[in-house]
Amino acid sequence: MADHWVRLELDVTAFDAGRFEPYLDRCAARGIRLTTLAELGDTPEHRRALYELNKECSADIPGRGAFCSYDEYVEQRLAVPEYDPRGVVIALDGDTWVGMAATSRHDDFVFNEMTGVRAGYRGRGISIAMKTFGMGFARRCGVTRVRTFHHPENTTAIAMNRTLGFVEAE
Ligand SMILES: CC(C)(COP(=O)(O)OP(=O)(O)OC[C@H]1O[C@@H](n2cnc3c(N)ncnc32)[C@H](O)[C@@H]1OP(=O)(O)O)[C@@H](O)C(=O)NCCC(=O)NCCS
Repeated sequence: MADHWVRLELDVTAFDAGRFEPYLDRCAARGIRLTTLAELGDTPEHRRALYELNKECSADIPGRGAFCSYDEYVEQRLAVPEYDPRGVVIALDGDTWVGMAATSRHDDFVFNEMTGVRAGYRGRGISIAMKTFGMGFARRCGVTRVRTFHHPENTTAIAMNRTLGFVEAE
């Protein structure tokens, strides 16, 4: 485990979604559809698909140990008051789940739990598009901050968040 996490946050009120519209357009042009788990249906089948995608993408997070079991995942991430399926963005290529940007809801901020894109779909702006799409949820929650933290060696995720305007948390 890292002893020095890179803690980042984004000011929701200053976020200019229009700047990232081209990422959304590019996804649409490539047939990548963005939706939420709430829209798809927060069913046992979809929870299992979310788990499998999270597990697959987490294998590429530097310093990440073994992934938990499905039952532990449900207990720790889904059966908690902070979980809200409206804050879980899914990217679909046809029926295939190719990306996720999961957030959780807290009193005065939204936390980025996990952003992941399947290896064959990376480098196409899908994570930026998903997180831009998900900003509507943070606004709906009435919070002013989105928070995240990363292993210092996860330079791709840190760069992706900086592109969106995340800065060092105070
Ligand atoms: C991190 C991750 C989600 C990025 O997804 P992605 O869809 O490939 O990222 P994007 O194509 O949207 O790239 C967004 C930005 O990230 C940065 N970036 C992407 N790939 C990069 C790379 N290989 N090196 C450096 N910067 C990179 C760039 O700033 C890019 O913006 P640009 O395209 O305008 O230059 C993906 O690599 C992943 O799933 N990694 C494994 C899981 C993980 O580490 N998740 C984060 C921890 S929660």
